[in-house]
This record gives sequence, C-alpha cells and structure tokens, in this order.
Amino acid sequence: MAPGSSDEKKTDDGQASKENFIHLCNPHLEKMKEDILYHFALGTGTHDFPTLFGDVKFVCVGGSPSRMKAFIAYIAEELGLGSPGCDYPNICAGTDRYAMYKVGPVLSVSHGMGIPSISIMLHELIKLLYHAKCSDITIIRIGTSGGIGLEPGSVVITRQSVDATFKPQLEQVILGKTVIRDTNLDEQLAKELMQCSKEIGQFNTVIGNTMCTLDFYEGQGRLDGAICLYDEEEKLQYLKDAYESGVRNIEMESSVFAAMCNLSCVKAAVVCVTLLNRLEGDQITSPHDVLVEYQQRPQKLVGYFIKKSLGKV
Ligand code: URA
Repeated sequence: MAPGSSDEKKTDDGQASKENFIHLCNPHLEKMKEDILYHFALGTGTHDFPTLFGDVKFVCVGGSPSRMKAFIAYIAEELGLGSPGCDYPNICAGTDRYAMYKVGPVLSVSHGMGIPSISIMLHELIKLLYHAKCSDITIIRIGTSGGIGLEPGSVVITRQSVDATFKPQLEQVILGKTVIRDTNLDEQLAKELMQCSKEIGQFNTVIGNTMCTLDFYEGQGRLDGAICLYDEEEKLQYLKDAYESGVRNIEMESSVFAAMCNLSCVKAAVVCVTLLNRLEGDQITSPHDVLVEYQQRPQKLVGYFIKKSLGKV
C-alpha cells in the first residue's frame, strides 16, 4: 500500500470500512530499513511501534514536560484508567529533549517553545504514528498565549493560525527557496470543542484566529524585552490591527503545527488559554495559583472532549 490518507479495509463480516491513516509526505522513508527518532530516543529497530502505540487515537501536545505529565495523570483519572498515586513513566526517558506519556488511547507529548522546537518534535511524532500504523488520529495542541481584547483566563480555539502580518500561512525556506504552507485547522473539530466548552460551562471560550510569532518580545509587540525600538502607540496600533483582522490570541507554535498536520492529513486543533490581555500590558502579573488554574483550562476542555468522543460523558 502506498502511504496515504485513507485505506479501504475489510472488517470481519466482509464489510468495507474507511480508516484514516497518516499520510507520509516523504517517499524516501519507504527505502529505509530502520528509522531512528533521535530526539525521542526511539527507533523502529529497537522498539515495536505498533505494539507500543498502535491503539493511540488522541495526541495532545504542549510546551512543558511537567504540564504534559500532569495532563496524562488528569486524563487517566477522567477515563478511569488511573490508580491513586500511580506514576506515569516518560517513554522518552533516554533523552531530555522531549517527554512523552501514554495512557490508553491518549498520547501526551511536550514540544518546547517556538516553531523550530515543535517542528522537530512533529516530524518524529508523525513518523512514530505512521510506523505504529495508527488510524483516525486527532492531534490537539494545548497551551498558553497572550490574549487580545479578552479577559485573562479566556480560552481560544484557533480557526486559522496567521503569521505576524495576519496571513494564514507559514513561510519556510527549504533548499534556499521560500515555501508557503496553509495553516488552516479542522473547522468541525473546532466546533465540537466549542460545544464541549459550553457543556462544561466553567470559562469563557471563543473561536478566533491565533497569531503565531517567531519571538515572545519584539515579535509580539512587547515593550518589555531587552530590545525595543518602537513606542507604545505603535505597539497598540499593531495589536488593534491584529484584533480587527480576527486575531484573538498570540503564541509561537500554531502555524507549523497546522501546516504539518494538514500535509499529513491529521485532524488538528489548537486550544490555548490567554494569560493576559495584551491591550492592557505586557508582563504576566497574575499570581502563581491563578496562572496554574488558567493552564488547567485547555486540559479540562480537551479532557472532556476525549471523554465525550469515547462515549464516557
Ligand atoms: N505565550 C506567548 O507566546 N505569549 C504570551 O503573551 C503568553 C504566552
């Protein structure tokens, strides 16, 4: 079978069923005897991917290893798969680049900060899911962001990831040429997540565009970095223009996440909580316990979505 987005399979009763497999956009991989996923410290020659990961249906990715560990403990509890005091081993313990945890059909993986870091992780994650012969995968990035015109603690489900000029695209230089990739996300999945948030009814949630930048400071129009050569008026004008174009939050990973999931035919969503309203300031000043509770909101929403998808709500 050529690697593709879908494959016709016969079930036990002879009925044809459609399953969505990972589409691998790389003909060279077929020729390799072994594939070493270096940044995960995993490889097809040393690990049985179908046995280890073949049942995965939901992949949640987020910046910090400790948050992704907390998420797996939370989801285990929610799905009734955990036991009190249970520890979840890091599948990527052989490296400190990324951390990975699994419980039942849920995989939780950290991606670090920024486009280069999440991009490396996604190359290896997509190959891992392909080698494991996973099908019908949903990938959701859960994270934090700066909001625009929203009360802090609001959750934004991304409609489109846009660049710092508000275009829904990712520009990447490959072999010395600029390649432009689409950054749309799955519309239906975004609506389903929105419905879940309404059912939970605990925090403000909106669907809006997310601006993905290359930097936290100048790239996001902050006045408090080590370098800033614009004034407050210019900063506010930029953020207001962003708001006018449909942007509701700013982070640093969604564009490449959307582009790579699109190319691999994987259903994807981005769910980020806003830690502050950027029209009111640049520094994140909320107390630690408030920020911890905010960071749990995307986890709660996605946890509820997974539970509902598995018929456990
Ligand atoms: N993450 C970002 O990228 N920006 C913020 O303002 C907050 C979190």
